[in-house]
This record gives sequence, C-alpha cells and structure tokens, in this order.
Amino acid sequence: ARQESPSGLLAGRRVVVTAGPTREPIDPVRYITNHSSGKMGYAIAAAAAAAGASVVLVSGPVSLAVPPGVDVRPVCTAQEMLEASSRAVDEGCDIFVATAAVADYRPEAFVSQKIKKSSDSMNLSLVRNPDTLATIAARTDAPFTVGFAAETRDVARYATDKMMRKKLKMIVANDVSVPGLGFSSDRNAVTVFWPEGTESIGPDSKQAIAARLVALIADHSSRIDQ
Ligand code: CTP
Ligand code: CA
Repeated sequence: ARQESPSGLLAGRRVVVTAGPTREPIDPVRYITNHSSGKMGYAIAAAAAAAGASVVLVSGPVSLAVPPGVDVRPVCTAQEMLEASSRAVDEGCDIFVATAAVADYRPEAFVSQKIKKSSDSMNLSLVRNPDTLATIAARTDAPFTVGFAAETRDVARYATDKMMRKKLKMIVANDVSVPGLGFSSDRNAVTVFWPEGTESIGPDSKQAIAARLVALIADHSSRIDQ
C-alpha cells in the first residue's frame, strides 16, 4: 500500500513548527487576528512526527487536536510566539518551519478597561511585531529554516524575495486568492522554492501536501548538514 506519510525520514531530527494565527489584544474584550485555521502547520507537525522527528509545535489559538507525539506550546500574541520559538530552538532544533500567520502589527497600547464608544470614528494606533522566522534564521546557530508566504499576486516574485531577505533555505508559497484553497480549507496547493529549484504540490489534502513537504525538507536539510 502507498504510504501517505514518509516514515523514518526525519529519525532523530528535532523540528520546531509555528502554526495558527496570533491574537493581539486591544482591550479586555477585543483583539486583532486573521483567518488562519492552523491546519497546514498541524499537518506538517503530524507528518514530521510520523517521519520520526521529535516535534515542538508553537501554536496560536486554533481549534484542532494536537497530533500524537507532538509537544505543543500554546501562545497568543506575536511576541509570545517569538519567545516560545526562541526557547524551543535553544533546547535544540535542526529544522524550523514557520507556517504561522503572525499579525504584522499589534495595538500600541493595551487598554485595561473596555473601550466605550463615543465619537463617530476612532483611530487605533498599531506598532510592528517582531518577526519570529527572520529572528530564528538570523541566529548564528540557525537551524534549516523554512518559511511560508501567503500572497494574492506575483506569488513567485514575492516568495523568492522573502526567502532571500529572511535568509531562508526554502519557502512555501500559498496563493491565497484561489477560492476553496488555503486558510480554513482542508485542501491547498503550494509552490516550493529553494535557491536552486522549485516544485509545485497539489491541489491536494493538507495531509498529502505536508507529507511531500516533509520529504523535500528531509532531503534538502540532510544535504546541507554534510
Ligand atoms: N512570520 C513570522 N513572524 C512575523 C511575520 C511573519 O514568523 N512577525 C513568518 C510567517 O510564519 C511566514 C513568513 O514569515 O513563514 C512570511 O510571512 P508573510 O506574512 O507572508 O510575510 P511578511 O514578511 O510578514 O510580509 P508581508 O505580510 O508584508 O507580505
Ligand atoms: Ca505578514
């Protein structure tokens, strides 16, 4: 029978995956977030564990079951995602895969009491969040680092530009403008770029795409480790 998940490909490897959205509080009852379901990241964590890796999953708020054998570290904000990811990499990490849809900005200040409405319009001041993926890739002891790029246009150009700018070994581009794929869907189609090549995967289930991604990552990271 055909194996859906590659087995043994990542035996003995330590993998850290980020997944899900982040949630940036405005006041005690409100926050900023996005449509990420976490499904792609959870599927990658599951596929890496099935391939024999020890897996830490740094997860924003999602409603998904933790894959068997995966060490999940729940976080809310982008700042918490950076802290938990840095700690997980400090513990030992060969491969870092950032699938999380991190909020690029957070409210400048948390308002400790519920904001009451007053005028007909209001402004919310936002400040930039730290970039977990770029921070991990810039470490002198950086693991083999894989990013995701959600784009609505010029997918190849924006994705390869992100790979170079963030010093990644590989980037997985998601065209989020295709109806019925990505975000909350169980299916996806991606194009993977690395400095010397590219491969398109899907449309297929997120499980099947994760299995192929894990095989590609295992192949490329072992070449670099020599
Ligand atoms: N990422 C991250 N921390 C952030 C922002 C992004 O770790 N604060 C990671 C994502 O998990 C993804 C990659 O960086 O793996 C690219 O995310 P994306 O939002 O596509 O890129 P940005 O660099 O934020 O650029 P933009 O949103 O402007 O396209
Ligand atoms: Ca972004």
